[in-house]
Amino acid sequence: MKNFTNVNKAVFPVAGLGTRFLPATKAQPKEMLPVVDKPLIQYAVEEAYDAGIRHMIFVTGRNKRAIEDHFDTAYELESELEASGKAELLALVRSLSPSDMNCSFVRQPRSLGLGHAVLCARHIVRNDPFAVLLADDLMCGPDSGKGVLTQMVDVFKEVQTSVLAVQEVPPEHTKRYGIVAGDKVGDRLVKVKQMIEKPSPDKAPSRLGVAGRYVLTPDVFDRIANQPRGAGGEIQLTDGIAQQMGDPGVHAYLYEGKRYDCGSKDGFLEATVEFALKHQEVGPAFREYLQALKF
Ligand code: UTP
Repeated sequence: MKNFTNVNKAVFPVAGLGTRFLPATKAQPKEMLPVVDKPLIQYAVEEAYDAGIRHMIFVTGRNKRAIEDHFDTAYELESELEASGKAELLALVRSLSPSDMNCSFVRQPRSLGLGHAVLCARHIVRNDPFAVLLADDLMCGPDSGKGVLTQMVDVFKEVQTSVLAVQEVPPEHTKRYGIVAGDKVGDRLVKVKQMIEKPSPDKAPSRLGVAGRYVLTPDVFDRIANQPRGAGGEIQLTDGIAQQMGDPGVHAYLYEGKRYDCGSKDGFLEATVEFALKHQEVGPAFREYLQALKF
């Protein structure tokens, strides 16, 4: 077995259509929707950076230019801020792309599914292990604890197989998730023996639902490429990962923290309220505002 020592690349598939958020996503990517004052994609990039990852690879599609611009230098804005002495804002804008972070952009020409999007990054990832972050799943580690991807990279270094973030989901929600089952091999760790995409509650082998964070070994590319199209004619990532279960194996990790499904309106609203309450600048006044609201 290969000994992978580190994870230094992250793939952000951002080429989806975001139909659940129309009309907001007609002309702008859903990953640019802000939760309070930061776009979703920035939360995900910061989570990857905190996990030690320095090469960010975005798989983009039509209407996604704003994401490239967000992580690029904005000369006009920076010189305006500099000229008007707004040092704090200038530092904030510059902090979006630290000097030791590299960004690559690759296009997915058609929305052929998440597996296909990940495959579009193959020539950049090459033979290294890599993380996949779905930015519409906003993940929050425990207060003053490690971020979710940091926890997963730690686990990956130990088990040396692909690692999927999972959480317990209510039985009536199994239809919304990839569900995994297998042997418990640690406090929060399961060696995966079975993966089923969006089963009804009576067909679900467990209640462990896959969230939008993965650390994958690079052999997954061949597995994705060599499979027939899955559900809905799309090339599914989970079908490719399922083929790794026998050899080299797959682990599911019950992460510590909370996930907000910001691809749905309910999850996005929950994240907005909770992040606003915790926000240094607006939190206290927003709390008072909510308390005074009459329902
Ligand atoms: P979703 O299932 O959330 O699809 O994709 P979507 O198109 O973004 O949103 P809805 O359901 O129409 O509202 C999960 C993730 O996979 C990416 C999406 O950008 C999202 O981060 N994706 C999906 C791609 O990059 N390419 C695809 O072909 C499909």
